[in-house]
Amino acid sequence: MPFRQLLLPMAVLLWLAGPVLGAQAPSGKWWNNAVIYEIYPRSFQDSNGDGIGDLNGITQRLDYLKDLGVNAIWIGPMYPSPQVDFGYDISDYENVDPQYGTLADFDRLAAEARRHGIRVLLDMVLNHTSDQHPWFKGAAASRSDPRHDWYVWNNGIVDSAGKRQPPNNWVSLFGGSAWQWVPAVNQYYYHEFYRAQPDLNWRNPQVEKAMMDTLRFWLDRGVAGFRLDAITTLFEDAQLRNEPQQPGVNAQGDPVVSRIYTDNLPEVHDVIRRMRTMIDTYPGDRVLIGETYLPDTAELDKWYGGARHDELQLPMDMLVGFTNKLDVAALRSRLLEVQTQVHGSQPMLVFDNHDNVRSWDRYGDGVHNAEIAKIVATLLLTSRATALLYQGEEIGQVTTVPTRVEDVRDPIGITGWPKEKGRDGERTPMQWDASNAQAGFSTNPKTWLPVPPGYKSVNAQSERADPNSLLNWHRELISLRRTNRALATGQMQMLDVQNKKVLSYARVAPGGQKVLVALNMSGETQIVSLDAGNTRPLKTLMTSPAGMPLPKATTAITLPAFGVWVGAQ
Ligand code: GLC
Repeated sequence: MPFRQLLLPMAVLLWLAGPVLGAQAPSGKWWNNAVIYEIYPRSFQDSNGDGIGDLNGITQRLDYLKDLGVNAIWIGPMYPSPQVDFGYDISDYENVDPQYGTLADFDRLAAEARRHGIRVLLDMVLNHTSDQHPWFKGAAASRSDPRHDWYVWNNGIVDSAGKRQPPNNWVSLFGGSAWQWVPAVNQYYYHEFYRAQPDLNWRNPQVEKAMMDTLRFWLDRGVAGFRLDAITTLFEDAQLRNEPQQPGVNAQGDPVVSRIYTDNLPEVHDVIRRMRTMIDTYPGDRVLIGETYLPDTAELDKWYGGARHDELQLPMDMLVGFTNKLDVAALRSRLLEVQTQVHGSQPMLVFDNHDNVRSWDRYGDGVHNAEIAKIVATLLLTSRATALLYQGEEIGQVTTVPTRVEDVRDPIGITGWPKEKGRDGERTPMQWDASNAQAGFSTNPKTWLPVPPGYKSVNAQSERADPNSLLNWHRELISLRRTNRALATGQMQMLDVQNKKVLSYARVAPGGQKVLVALNMSGETQIVSLDAGNTRPLKTLMTSPAGMPLPKATTAITLPAFGVWVGAQ
């Protein structure tokens, strides 16, 4: 017996509709309603047959990105790097790694992207460098090196057995102590991430100056902005106090600590404000996006600069997208918070990236994953938010984790095996077509990570030809977002707010025109009644499944299991 929702009297529905969200007028910046597509360059497209993606490969695929409708691409780190953490360990901030191409290739990519109407954003790693960066090599060779103080050093302590130990209990996110001993200087250096990624000392003003110069180098080359990697961890406690320890160990076998002395320290906001002032001197609304995993929306608001709006334009909200289950009440309240608790700033939503199990697997129930992926896409692309898409998300690529430790590439998986298998699973090559066993990603049978077997049906080419595919669902949503005023500029209003099975909301254009969205997050048919406070004729814009009965009125919308209805009134 399908669950059927009671039709509530009009007055109650009006009360349930809740407040109109996001009261601030849209700012008119290009990024305000943009869809930004994350490219993991190693896995996007290989143009020279070495089994590794590259910049010319991205250039070759710009037609695809234009057809998808994205406004900008964020390219993962393509700078010279020993590739211990696949580019997040940079050894030269002002060049391109030969594996990925040359500066001339970058300039050509940027020019071609412009021709396609696509902006280019770069990943910028400010927290740490590679241990092979000349700065660190000098710093680790001698205490009197002019750059020694550019990193975080400490003499450590001598324990009761007379043995030298790290100064405190700080744990690396990649496993083990966060301190590494260097005999040449008789000191430990601090590394939040892998030991090949020494943290920079942001209390030294020369570090800030060097990094500002680097940002300018790329801004002068025309990039539209940056995604700031691990930006919340720039500062560590100056007194090096021990982090509070909780019971148990994590997947790496390390003690579980609360990172109150190594993450999200208040000093970072001064740096961000100066960075914002600097990029605002450039024309064209350059943008700063933050990788901001934060405990709550109040903290997120600080990353915008609160009421001053003088820090990042787009710190990522990780709360909505990483709810990790179709929990209607949780998703509704998180969406509501990011719409109302950030002083009118623009929310940025993200469900997928190169660091997490794909949303296909995190939200899927193993049976209805294809339908659920359309729910996730709809939520991402019809909310009032700048949207981040990760390559492969739009076609439903699945997470494919290595089965043998010798196949693991990600350092986290190497240190954490077998409990922590690392992030290779979400970084497998983009599945373009079924033209060869590499899914069109490369001509080389040995790709840096294997192409999952599902590529024969899950690939961009065959999905483009299938009107009901996940790819075309994304294309249609993005196109609607660009052309429909309510979706492009409208405020967001939650509807039917007591409903625990269906998430419904309206986007309201200044003239009162509305787009209505109803997402059935349950495995049973649901009937919803949405009062949109509007008497205009109802028009269905998109449905999933494709053949679902079209409602004649907002008061009786029948949604099949995991069904989606998007309409206009
Ligand atoms: C960020 C990146 C991740 C990287 C880490 C260290 O979290 O997204 O891939 O390993 O920073 O730079």
